[in-house]
Amino acid sequence: MKRMNRCILYIITSTVILIQSTEAQIKTIGQKVDSVLILMTLDEKIGQLNQYSDDLIYTGPVTIDSDKADQIKQGRVGSLLNCMGTERIRNWQKIAMKSRLKIPLLFGQDVIHGYKTTFPIPLGESCSWDLDAMELSARISATEAAAAGINWTFAPMVDICRDPRWGRVMEGAGEDTYLGSKIAFARVKGFQGDKLGEINSVMACAKHFAGYGAAIGGRDYNSVDMSERQLLETYLPPFKATVDAHVATFMTSFNDLNGVPSTANKFLLRDVLKGKWKFDGFIVSDWASVSEMINHGNVKDEYEAALKAIAAGCDMDMESRSYKKNLAKLVSERKVSVSLIDDAVRRILLKKFELGLFDDPYKFCNAEREQKELNNPNNSISARDVAKRSIVLLKNDKQLLPLSKGTKTIAFIGPLVKPKMQNKGFWDVEVPGNDSAYVVSQWEGLVKKVGKTTNLIYAKGCDIEGERKDGFAEAVNVAKQADVVILSIGERRDMSGEAKSRSDIRIPGVQEELLKELLSTGKPVVVLINAGRPLVFDYTAKHASAILYTWWLGSEAGNAISDVLFGDYNPSAKLTMTFPLSVGQVPIYYNHFNTGRPANNDSDRQNKSIYTDLSIYPKYEFGYGLSYTSFQYSQLQLNKKKINPNEQIEVSATITNTGMYDGEEIVQLYLRDIVGSIVRPVIELKDFRKVMLKAGESKTITFSIDAEKLSFINQQLEWVAEPGEFDVMIGASSRDIRLKEKFELVE
Ligand code: NOJ
Repeated sequence: MKRMNRCILYIITSTVILIQSTEAQIKTIGQKVDSVLILMTLDEKIGQLNQYSDDLIYTGPVTIDSDKADQIKQGRVGSLLNCMGTERIRNWQKIAMKSRLKIPLLFGQDVIHGYKTTFPIPLGESCSWDLDAMELSARISATEAAAAGINWTFAPMVDICRDPRWGRVMEGAGEDTYLGSKIAFARVKGFQGDKLGEINSVMACAKHFAGYGAAIGGRDYNSVDMSERQLLETYLPPFKATVDAHVATFMTSFNDLNGVPSTANKFLLRDVLKGKWKFDGFIVSDWASVSEMINHGNVKDEYEAALKAIAAGCDMDMESRSYKKNLAKLVSERKVSVSLIDDAVRRILLKKFELGLFDDPYKFCNAEREQKELNNPNNSISARDVAKRSIVLLKNDKQLLPLSKGTKTIAFIGPLVKPKMQNKGFWDVEVPGNDSAYVVSQWEGLVKKVGKTTNLIYAKGCDIEGERKDGFAEAVNVAKQADVVILSIGERRDMSGEAKSRSDIRIPGVQEELLKELLSTGKPVVVLINAGRPLVFDYTAKHASAILYTWWLGSEAGNAISDVLFGDYNPSAKLTMTFPLSVGQVPIYYNHFNTGRPANNDSDRQNKSIYTDLSIYPKYEFGYGLSYTSFQYSQLQLNKKKINPNEQIEVSATITNTGMYDGEEIVQLYLRDIVGSIVRPVIELKDFRKVMLKAGESKTITFSIDAEKLSFINQQLEWVAEPGEFDVMIGASSRDIRLKEKFELVE
């Protein structure tokens, strides 16, 4: 009884009382959690496992409950999502403070690429290969979100994807496991900061566990069917990287994996994540994915769904209400043990303690701080910097770019020149009070850049979608008056994202026809392609004079694009997804197997593993991206030609900037394990460096290769490095290999 009183005191009072009454006895966070758990009724425990959306925004199928506030007051809700702003969050938290045990709510939000300041979509940002920049953008997003009351973001999405039809490729880091793992680690560090509990850190959430990016046919929410070997080797390492970065939470995925919905997949959640990887955070379902198991055909009703999900290790039920409706009954019927529930509750309370919410439930609700952080001018400086690092130069005939600032007349044409909000891409946050309308349009960016001596003229030309060509004549007329034309085309921002899979990934509508008309004027045309996925644009690739792939660059899009167009920033980004020639090549990825009948080039077609009507090559390969300068690779050196599994090889090469501009090069290290007990990919990224070189400058860079980089998952499902020969390759892309050598791993 004495202990219980102390605990109640702990919950209902301030830090001061905590210090006086408990410091000596309650030493660890684990003990604090237990001191709360011991007081909880079963219903209150189940409440902690229940998460609802606020009623203003829904990011999934809508369920209205008129009694949300009452449920919170009764301790039947552990977390809310989709509420923003210190005022609104404070109000909800006040209601939670009226509950018997005053357990604070967690507030979650999809802060995917920025809160008020929008950064490039994650796929675009990944093309910077700049881990510091990505950590910084997550850091700033977390700082803004935390200042606005949020303490949990549903990011990063770390799903590997080899299919650009899948609308959610825009949320990830592309197709490569090695790079994806590095980015996953950096993003978690960025969101969570030095440690949870700091005023500007939010909990990160690694999602979607697992295999979601491999949905059959790239159709969202579709099934995933893959070998366990491939799952462990290709799809799970980025998730493991988030655990290594101490990610606080995981989210299950909507798909079934080999017939078992992820939300009730014991192998994934309990055996791998909580077992082998010793993940000590908690797992939330995706939106209604517990009850959607009925649609999957894996359970008969919500009772069975709740049973399977909690038993498999899914701790919190987002929006399905199956836990709330069924767990008490499942416990009373002895289908679920109280200890199973306790484990889930303990994990959630632990995070609430770590965040400091028990000490101060309004910790993230300081309106003054909110105003200050949401109006920090440094954030837009960083957003501009990350945005320009994400723009990929795909083509630059006759070195048309960078444009001269003295150009007399520039025609800026296209449906994406003037809109502001399009630049934000999918999964932007609509901050209450319309703060999020802050975006520099592409037009505004150019106007600011060119100054008074340049005549900037505009025509829309056409819409993003549809067949109308009545704007073509005006566009051609405008183009004729210009020295150079810049054409901004692409997708609408809501054509990629959740539930936005497309079977036709060509540039929509008549936009490429507009390009054709503009080219007929004989003027050079620079094309900006705005998109949330790799698109197919064969005509543009062949005929445009220059192409910049801008993705969706966020708040500072216009400034960043202008910086690159005029050479104030020399583009350095490289693709993190293969761009197919046509949708028929999909799924397509650089690190494929060789097959028994590989074609060595496009004339090698007899009885070969090819499409008879297509080149064997993609349009643009993984790792591809140009610069305004050129780089030469030389002097490959290996400090050893043989190593044993405990040794490392140092591989060095000299990179020289042989062009006229200072610039950064992303130098890529690839390996090939020539003979394996399991067939190995023709080439695999194993390291990279981003080097800044002044014009004429050389630098020598060194990579270390150890047994881990040589390992793969064998038939016994173990990571092994097998003795034998390896090719080591250093290149400017996965196809543009500049230096190559061999070495051997000996026993
Ligand atoms: C469904 C999405 O799949 C998930 O990524 C997101 O975090 C939740 N909805 C919450 O909005």
